[in-house]
Amino acid sequence: MRELVVNLSDHSYKIIIENGALDNVNTYIKTIYNNDKVFIITDDKVKDLYLDKVIKSLEKDYIVDYVVIPNGEASKTLEKYAYICEELLKKDIRRNNLIVALGGGVIGDISGFVASSLFRGLPYVGIPTSLLAQMDSSIGGKTGIDFYGRKNILGAFKQPKMVIIDPNTINTLDEREFNNGMGELIKHGAIGNKELLDSLYSHPKITEDVIYESLTVKKKVVEIDEFDLKERMTLNFGHTFGHAIELKYGYKHGEAVAIGMLMAIKMGIDLGVTDKSCYKPILDILKIYNLPVVEYDYKDYLKDVFYDKKNIAGTISFIFLTKLGECVIYKITEKEIKEKLL
Ligand code: GLY
Repeated sequence: MRELVVNLSDHSYKIIIENGALDNVNTYIKTIYNNDKVFIITDDKVKDLYLDKVIKSLEKDYIVDYVVIPNGEASKTLEKYAYICEELLKKDIRRNNLIVALGGGVIGDISGFVASSLFRGLPYVGIPTSLLAQMDSSIGGKTGIDFYGRKNILGAFKQPKMVIIDPNTINTLDEREFNNGMGELIKHGAIGNKELLDSLYSHPKITEDVIYESLTVKKKVVEIDEFDLKERMTLNFGHTFGHAIELKYGYKHGEAVAIGMLMAIKMGIDLGVTDKSCYKPILDILKIYNLPVVEYDYKDYLKDVFYDKKNIAGTISFIFLTKLGECVIYKITEKEIKEKLL
């Protein structure tokens, strides 16, 4: 078992990483929640795999009820948000009850948003079951839903009371979904942990220790910049170009981040910020995990990214590696882009 504590200004919470943790959820939750009822939010796919197990554990200490929505990004809507709230109210949820988000990124995001807003805020615990959610969205308190054609545009920062990760859940992911999560794990190595990155050459089993090392990178930046105003932006390495191609070509998030990292490395090299030696190791590791390494020319996407949300007062903040395991936030104007790169 490994344990991480995310220390924020007004509270802290634990990330438990334990093989088989799904059988002991009650033991962990007991340490942070003493009321009588727990409401699980999950999706139809995860329900079949893990809901019974989690209920069995929680019923040792709590009265348990649950709400199920369909699996997939199409569920991250205002309608499903309203459906979950209605179901919880029908089931007589009270403002001091606990929500448990059991599932991948969509469940974590929408459940966290429900927890941030129903009764002006309820406590919640995240139990992410996809590698992608374990690596990224379940940690750090970004919650939300898609709206008006824009991803995560309605949301709130709402930190969980605890995150419980059972690495055994990775075993039920298909290969593409596993590799999708690896995209974010590789990113953590690239921006903040060279040893982790080096260890990936041997395609290791994703153990409690590997998850711990990867999440330590995220934990550190969330602690210094909970609300994503500065240092936390480093977690967006590969995302600026990644977002530009994700929807356009139908990539999964971690796949788009993989390609976006390569594009950002090329741009960083052209600007003289990124050491040339960074490109090949990242390319090789992405290939080991069968992530797409299609070479889109970053210059073709500069215009798109300039007008996305990172364009604050005519400047974009790019995240570039300086060398493997280290990165910088690099601000650049449209004028400089034209002068230096186009
Ligand atoms: N996914 C990036 C962050 O949590 O800030």
